[in-house]
Amino acid sequence: METTTKAVADDVRPPVVSAVGLLKIFRDFWNRPKAKAVNDIDFEVREGEVLGLLGPNGSGKSTTVKMLLGLLYPTGGRLTVFGKSPRDVSIKKRIGYLPEETYLYKYLTAFETLDFFASLFNLSKADRTKRCEQLLDMVGLAHARNRPVGEFSKGMARRIGLAQAMINDPALLILDEPTSGLDPLGCREVKDLIQMLKKRGKTVIVTSHLLSDVEDVCDRVIILYGGKIRAQGALNDLLSIEKKERITTPALPPDVMKKVLAVLRENLKDDEFRVDHPRMSLEEFFLDVVNKARVEHVETFGARSSGHIAEYLSAGSEEKNADGALLDRLAGRVPEPAAPEPEKVDAAKEKEKAEEKKILQSLSKDREAEESARKALEELQAARAKLSDANDKLKDLLGSRGKKDGE
Ligand SMILES: Nc1ncnc2c1ncn2[C@@H]1O[C@H](COP(=O)(O)OP(=O)(O)OP(=O)(O)O)[C@@H](O)[C@H]1O
Ligand SMILES: [Mg+2]
Repeated sequence: METTTKAVADDVRPPVVSAVGLLKIFRDFWNRPKAKAVNDIDFEVREGEVLGLLGPNGSGKSTTVKMLLGLLYPTGGRLTVFGKSPRDVSIKKRIGYLPEETYLYKYLTAFETLDFFASLFNLSKADRTKRCEQLLDMVGLAHARNRPVGEFSKGMARRIGLAQAMINDPALLILDEPTSGLDPLGCREVKDLIQMLKKRGKTVIVTSHLLSDVEDVCDRVIILYGGKIRAQGALNDLLSIEKKERITTPALPPDVMKKVLAVLRENLKDDEFRVDHPRMSLEEFFLDVVNKARVEHVETFGARSSGHIAEYLSAGSEEKNADGALLDRLAGRVPEPAAPEPEKVDAAKEKEKAEEKKILQSLSKDREAEESARKALEELQAARAKLSDANDKLKDLLGSRGKKDGE
């Protein structure tokens, strides 16, 4: 049975997507039904909403998304996107899509890849270049702009896919498993990005089976199972447990804790309450560790996002600066040290070499001085030894003379 919350019904924003009785049956060669991938589902996505399409493998998420994009024909039902059929060409430029698998031309560089997709939207050369540079910076691939994408790791390819989905500054963004292959830092950045896009009034549909990814960013979720909607509604409504309370306080002194426990025991049985310390999530802990490494400027050759949202995506947003600050705060980012210009690098290297030479010279001078001092000492010791020999001989001589005189 489907669980639905009333939040959707109250919403007055215009629907960007509307599906009624949507059905998709895949058939075999003899036209016999092979799989009922999407089975008579109704849903709406409102403007400015972030919708999570959840479900286990094979539950119909990608099939639904492909129908929204006009890549697959529904077998039955009614589906509109921006009030039109998904196959209407006029709506294509308002949609950005990140496919489940990123397909890239492996011999094109990161920049050329984005420039190629930008050229499909009739953007001027200057506009294309600006957008490509800003997106590369935003997804943490500015340093790899001239590398062929065929060399990219899975996460790097995913980041290029994300940038490509946003090249046309779309009003509706459909992201199929956007965080797959991304490190936790990348996941956090994607989630921040989705929140930022939402603030700009964009509509986002995100599919995932990683629940924590969805929980942080979605206003509403639809849970599919076997092509059917099993539950849908606002996350807050679906997840809050009305029959339980939680009070969080700073660490309490023992006497205060004693009093609190006494009150609880007076009113509840021992197994009806629990006192423990809240735990941070593994994601929070991981990001904390990585951000500390960043602060210490530990070297990495992997993806390193600037943490900046592409300017053209933020343009027009009243909350532009606030968003930037928020993202920085959320991800605990610190500015990366600016890369020195090439001439400065050469000059710095020359200076370093000259200093090294000086030190070596002074060391060798010291060594020469030490050597001659050692020789002088040896000569002195040899001279002393000779002198004492001569002394001994003189004593012997004088002694033998004295004896002779005494005789
Ligand atoms: N082109 C196709 N031909 C035949 N069956 C298909 C086709 N595409 C999808 N299906 C079937 O439709 C069902 C739903 O698949 P879909 O790709 O929509 O699932 P999903 O929820 O995206 O799963 P995942 O989490 O693994 O990506 C599955 O049973 C799948 O085998
Ligand atoms: Mg899928």
